[in-house]
Amino acid sequence: MLFRSTSMREPADALVLFGVTGDLCYRKIFPALYRLARRERFSTPVIGVARAGWKREQLIERVRASIHEFVADRDPAVLAQFVQLFHYVDGDYREAATFTALRKALGAARHPLHYLSIPPSMFPVVVKAFGASGCAAGSRVVVEKPFGRDLASARALNRVLHGVFDEASIFRIDHYLGKEPVQNLLYFRFANSFLEPMWNRNYVASVQITMAEQIGVAGRGRFYEEAGAIRDVVQSHLLQVAALLAMEPPVAGDSDSMREEKVKVLKAMPPLSTEQVVRGQFRGYREEPGVAPDSRVETYAALRLEIDSWRWAGVPFYVRAGKRMPVTATEVVVDLRPPPARVFGGLGQEQPNYIRFRLGPDVAIALGARAKRAGAGMKGRAVELFVTQEQGDAMDAYERLIGDALAGDASLFARQDEVEVAWAVVDPILSPGTEPLAYEPGTWGPAPADELIHGPCGWHNPGPDAQSWSRSCA
Ligand code: BG6
Repeated sequence: MLFRSTSMREPADALVLFGVTGDLCYRKIFPALYRLARRERFSTPVIGVARAGWKREQLIERVRASIHEFVADRDPAVLAQFVQLFHYVDGDYREAATFTALRKALGAARHPLHYLSIPPSMFPVVVKAFGASGCAAGSRVVVEKPFGRDLASARALNRVLHGVFDEASIFRIDHYLGKEPVQNLLYFRFANSFLEPMWNRNYVASVQITMAEQIGVAGRGRFYEEAGAIRDVVQSHLLQVAALLAMEPPVAGDSDSMREEKVKVLKAMPPLSTEQVVRGQFRGYREEPGVAPDSRVETYAALRLEIDSWRWAGVPFYVRAGKRMPVTATEVVVDLRPPPARVFGGLGQEQPNYIRFRLGPDVAIALGARAKRAGAGMKGRAVELFVTQEQGDAMDAYERLIGDALAGDASLFARQDEVEVAWAVVDPILSPGTEPLAYEPGTWGPAPADELIHGPCGWHNPGPDAQSWSRSCA
């Protein structure tokens, strides 16, 4: 039976957290809910579900511990009220009795939001049980990434979800879409008119997106063995960023108009071939707990994407993600073409004009230009104009996204076709059957990645803060 979301504008009147004893709830979801509560945007009962043999008191203790660890400025009165929102249902997801108990705990709630913070293998079990127990009626569901592990499994997962929920009731979380600087990228593009004339193949030479992380797999070896950099962050976060950079202006600001344009641009990306990709693995990865001693999983990937559209044909989009890099930072650089004539002599060794978006951990948008060096002669120097610069993300991505899901606003969630078309781009490079290239921890990855770049300047390496970055130009 398919439950239609007849009341999408109705805010959720209960939140059900499946996997409430897990790491994601502890590190991200509880703090996000607390911050919402502090801003008086959350007072809904929460029903945690897990098979841990816990009682409600243990869950409340865990919530308190999470807030103490992850929220610096706590208000004791808010916290005292907040923990009282939590209830607990213990049980195995495979047993009907668990869902009967959940249905009872939901009481009079008519629009629960079910949050699946559970291993993907359990999604079908839980979703089918929703249908059978009546827990799905009038409800919405939040699904955590990964949405499948390739195109075929993503389609299968979507079929399972659609067996019980219609598309408008399914909220697929990609937390990058909830990040303030990622939203600002979209805002900056479409709230200004000066960019539009140059935002195309006539002026843009190339686009680079780098997501560098200093940490390794941080105890998540078993998860990472099933994923690798391409599945973990390229298919999701980085293709989303590429789509926001490259999409056409949406006809309106509503969620479907936005997602329509993202789907169109993702569809214009031809599936990648192995020559467009360099995969790497940091030395020491194979010794991590949960990692196979002969693992071929990549902890680094660099790729050259194309977009066969009127706007972007011929403009390479270079995308790179890696663990154990020299810094933790995500940056986008849009390089413009050089001036058509060299009025003031050669431009050798010079940065082209560019627009730089630093998406984290601190946030900035900067325009790179050349200005005359004071004194005799027409000699120049590179200058950067900071349009905006912030110390960090003003609102946590989970806080924003959970708030939206509770309110029924799907704008920042991935739609089925969007997820599937992103898988179609990376599908051919998911199982190359070759060893990734080894790289030393603390470096920018295997040297052959440099060869992916066609153009005078190499990879743009973000620095520890927005002011410092480097790259070499020939
Ligand atoms: C997650 C990936 O989706 O994003 C992690 O699974 C990665 O491997 C994380 O570390 C990075 O997110 P953020 O918000 O810290 O940039």
